[in-house]
Amino acid sequence: MSLKDNINIKQLPEHIAIIMDGNGRWAKQKGKLRVFGHENGTRAVRRTVEGCAELGVKNLTLYAFSTENWNRPKLEVQTLMKLLISSLKKEIKTLQKNNIKLNAIGDLKALPTKVHKELADVIDLTKDNNRMTLTLALSYGSRDELINAVTQISIKVKNNIISPEKIDESLINQHLYTRNLPDVDLLIRTSGEQRISNFLLWQIAYAELYFTNVFWPDFTNEHLYEAIINYQKRERRFGKTSEQLS
Ligand code: FPP
Repeated sequence: MSLKDNINIKQLPEHIAIIMDGNGRWAKQKGKLRVFGHENGTRAVRRTVEGCAELGVKNLTLYAFSTENWNRPKLEVQTLMKLLISSLKKEIKTLQKNNIKLNAIGDLKALPTKVHKELADVIDLTKDNNRMTLTLALSYGSRDELINAVTQISIKVKNNIISPEKIDESLINQHLYTRNLPDVDLLIRTSGEQRISNFLLWQIAYAELYFTNVFWPDFTNEHLYEAIINYQKRERRFGKTSEQLS
């Protein structure tokens, strides 16, 4: 029996976000270079995207490259960018076949032109798909996103387009890179680290956090199901009491 049978399909998280960590350590354990871990990480990406779509999860967001990742050795950054281009080229058919829409969040202008262009092409080709939205966080940092939102709102205030009293949660949401996405319900981080690392700080306000020791390249659909089952056992109170909920 697969763990999948224990999932309540009617109570799926609407938005799962994943910090895909441990590629480097996975490779090192095998006596290989870090890039070998990233290559195998792309297989786990493929499995997880298909696994989520098959279950009926509407939104999956993957932390593929952070603003801080630019500080990694040049060769590793180059390899990650090449992997992105080749994965996008390779997976376009799978995205279309599975009716998945691609989306990207982050400082996309900072990406190499080739990545930017490939990304824009796939986003455009899949824009009408509606089974699931797959969002790649690329050159993404939550603080950068918030600075960007504050800047945009300030300009609008300065130009009398909005008044300061009108600044509320909804207005801030509309100025984030994630403006078209619902809040995160379940945040998964692999590799045993228990931190958020500047990922979706605003959007995880009420998310359930799930940490697993599995390195990202070893993350299978059974691990995904385990995380969802664990999520479904939790009581999400959103600040209320248990009694109020029942
Ligand atoms: C973290 O592992 C992983 C990354 C920084 C990159 C994730 C990228 C991929 C899985 C491949 C490309 C993605 C797509 C969407 C096709 P780490 O290098 O920090 O591992 P470590 O903590 O063990 O060093």
